[in-house]
Amino acid sequence: MSRGDTCITRTMKSYQKLTTPQPAGCQVEEEGAAPMPPARGRMAPCWVGSGLLVAAVLLSTITVWVLRQVSGGWLGPTPPPKCLLVPESHRFDCYPERQVVVTQELCESRGCCFIQSPLPAEGKQGVPWCFYPPDFPSYTLESLNQTALSMVGLLVRREKAYYPRDIEMLRLDVEFETDTRLHIKITDAANPRYEVPLDVPRAMKRAENPIYSLNFSWDPFGVLLRRTATGTVLLNTTVAPLIFADQFLQISTSLPSRFLYGLGEHRGSLLHSLDWNTLTLWARDVAPTESFNLYGAHPFYLLMEEGGDAHGVFLLNSNAMEVALQPAPGLTWRTIGGVLDFYVFLGPDPNMVIQQYQQVIGFPAMPPLWALGFHLCRWGYGSSNGTWQTVRAMRNYQIPQDAQWNDIDYMDGYRDFTFDSQKFASLPSLVEDLHKHGQRYVMILDPGISSTNPHGSYWPFDEGLRRGLFLNTTQGQPLIGKVWPGYTAFADFSNPDTHQWWLENLQHFHAHVPFDGLWIDMNEPSNFMDGSEDGCPPGELDSPPYTPAVLGDSLSSKTVCASAKQKASVHYNLHNLYGLMEAKATASALIQIRGKRPFIISRSTFPSQGRYSGHWLGDNRSQWKDMYYSIPGLLSFSLFGIPLVGADICGFSGSTSEELCTRWMQLGAFYPFARNHNTQNEKAQDPTVFSPAARTAMKDVLLTRYSLLPFLYTLFHHAHLQGDTVARPLFFEFPQDVATLGLDRQFLWGRSLLVTPVLEPGVDSVTGYVPQGTWYDFYTGSSVNSSGEMLKMSAPLEHLNLHIREGSILPTQKPGTTSEETRGNPLRLIVALSSSATAWGDLFWDDGESLDTFERGSYSYLVFNVTQNIFTSTVLHGSTEATNVTIGTLSIFGVQKLPSKVLLNGQEKPFSYLDNQVLTVSDLGISLSQGFSLQWL
Ligand code: NOJ
Repeated sequence: MSRGDTCITRTMKSYQKLTTPQPAGCQVEEEGAAPMPPARGRMAPCWVGSGLLVAAVLLSTITVWVLRQVSGGWLGPTPPPKCLLVPESHRFDCYPERQVVVTQELCESRGCCFIQSPLPAEGKQGVPWCFYPPDFPSYTLESLNQTALSMVGLLVRREKAYYPRDIEMLRLDVEFETDTRLHIKITDAANPRYEVPLDVPRAMKRAENPIYSLNFSWDPFGVLLRRTATGTVLLNTTVAPLIFADQFLQISTSLPSRFLYGLGEHRGSLLHSLDWNTLTLWARDVAPTESFNLYGAHPFYLLMEEGGDAHGVFLLNSNAMEVALQPAPGLTWRTIGGVLDFYVFLGPDPNMVIQQYQQVIGFPAMPPLWALGFHLCRWGYGSSNGTWQTVRAMRNYQIPQDAQWNDIDYMDGYRDFTFDSQKFASLPSLVEDLHKHGQRYVMILDPGISSTNPHGSYWPFDEGLRRGLFLNTTQGQPLIGKVWPGYTAFADFSNPDTHQWWLENLQHFHAHVPFDGLWIDMNEPSNFMDGSEDGCPPGELDSPPYTPAVLGDSLSSKTVCASAKQKASVHYNLHNLYGLMEAKATASALIQIRGKRPFIISRSTFPSQGRYSGHWLGDNRSQWKDMYYSIPGLLSFSLFGIPLVGADICGFSGSTSEELCTRWMQLGAFYPFARNHNTQNEKAQDPTVFSPAARTAMKDVLLTRYSLLPFLYTLFHHAHLQGDTVARPLFFEFPQDVATLGLDRQFLWGRSLLVTPVLEPGVDSVTGYVPQGTWYDFYTGSSVNSSGEMLKMSAPLEHLNLHIREGSILPTQKPGTTSEETRGNPLRLIVALSSSATAWGDLFWDDGESLDTFERGSYSYLVFNVTQNIFTSTVLHGSTEATNVTIGTLSIFGVQKLPSKVLLNGQEKPFSYLDNQVLTVSDLGISLSQGFSLQWL
């Protein structure tokens, strides 16, 4: 197909010309689209006749006059009318450089419009002063050819933009991969460029019934993507020019709503502000602070459309980038390398969007059961005996704990794969003791390998050097920075040989200290120096033509030089992948060493990380607002396909208080990954150090968590199997209820357990949103009917509000003090009847730690159902693991009248019935491997 003078639209099955012929570059106005600015330059004649052009000029003259009156007049000459035609909200930034105050001269040297707007409030961004005029040169779509699977187009730029090395000819690949997934890739037509080394699935055939349609604008080039069912325009990239220079790639789009989530890692509310908000993605070690780029990079957003549909967009690009959000609503991707490789997921509901995203990046690993227990850590136990003392105190009070951790103080001089033979002499015995008690040991590892070793040889460094496994400078020498041990080289995990060396180091250490899991920290990688001991060399990798708004204004700020050489590419390209590659090496080593499911928690993350590790939210503070921020933080990671996530319970730095720590333990007991961790030189904050009342409250909520382990484990199974979220924002379950779209002070486990924590001091109640329907108090079974409203709940210090959604069945278990103990106890199924007296639930059960149990079929899967007063448990898949575990109790919430009798498999059974409509049948003693039915009459 060569360039013609009609637009092309993709209808359900084929490409066809629009029924009304339109000139090249025409823009189709869409119902449901965000209000569009006047059409750009050469597009305008598509829908504005020449008479209208005169009217437009007239209008702009009037606008000039009006604007002068309201703004009190602007300085400098009157901007050209075409500039005044662009409403403020639609001004796409032509001069995003932060280091320069843009002047009219600078702006116009780029061919852009300059209009000064009032300065925004301190710390905020405002309307850009320098923005693209409607006719700023972009690419033209020269040809578009169909192949069996895709469409291939050629884009040509005739006029240079303003960054060096504009790429004149681009290749466009469009693949209709599935009915709900579209893949659009734009790259250099002539020369290969760096692409993210991620295994992504390739479509084998073209989607047959896509739920979207795609139009192209030819000149300037643009794509317009619509959801067919509603006509909603999801993407329209003609709102600003496409720029594709070697180190500056930029594409903008309109958005169909302001309800946008994702784009991590950042601290802030779950819902992003679109009021001139630029989010930078460049892995960085810094205590989480609003607007800073943090530890990981996740170029993925989820957007809620009007009416409850959702879609997601993933830019598969690992370079430093910014995403600029503006009130149009509009969004600009601005990256400084790689290619523009987009995946769009059409849902149509938010759960499906996240599943579809994970079909591309990979589903998360199934964690071992013990990973879901309670973890305890601190920096500065000071000795293995000190650590052991805490473990003993926890046992003494019978507070649940699955894993004890050590921070860097276990090491000898902060060197990986060593332990302090004095202070941590008893470490091997401590680990043995943990194992005897069904507990596990996790220790920290940093990727910086000590390069100055006064005591002679240090195998990890010497051998790494010998095998050439470290990041190198441009001169080919190991790049030396400074982390905990002092001067360090950095392991290059993009080199497969490094994985072998990492394994050998771990094997050696494991022979002395048989650890169970690993905590990989400082892997942005963090560096206490900028770049290296010698700084960074001049050049366009360390000083690119454009530097995104990274903290410290330099790519090498508190990390290594972007120019550092790695096996797979330069660090400039691989920086954001460092944590992912380390996690991959670590997971593979753990599997080889232990032969069981690996447990890894990583600070730096990238899409697909969930396949190898979980994540914690970094160095928070012991403050109430940090406790709140943990909720949007963990919910964002649910969107990123990393369900095993939590924040440092009670806060990492600063001093916690008993009240804060009690409330935080209650919230943290519902983090998918629950770890209390504290910095050095702060007072201890594990549950045993508080007053009996606080300690008991903490113990109780941990017991509640442990009672829910079967439910939580089953949720992780669904995450592993198909990318369901574990901790879930309310709007995922109630997407049509606009009141849920901004909620991030509460969350759900799965579809049915609502957690409403207290997030402020000095209160004994909490107000939370309760979506429409019947909800049951988790502890008592009493019901509350909500019309979808904010409800005040009683919340004395010892109480966490938990509500079960009608229609669900939660598998729970009598809690023990470890997951190992718990898994042997009888189960209790909690049935929460719907208004039509039905309910559904399920249970995944296996040995809790073997590799690939689902894939190998070594598991049990049970489905529970209630209809017409009959509960049935059906074993859909059985395994021997389940035979020794019994279902002991059935608690049915919402049974409206006292039953006359209860029959278990047809035999009468004693029961109890309470006024709050709770029916309980105990002592069932039914093996998990047997199906059964229970009827109440
Ligand atoms: C930084 C980590 O974020 C923190 O959790 C840890 O305690 C320190 N490094 C020391 O290892």
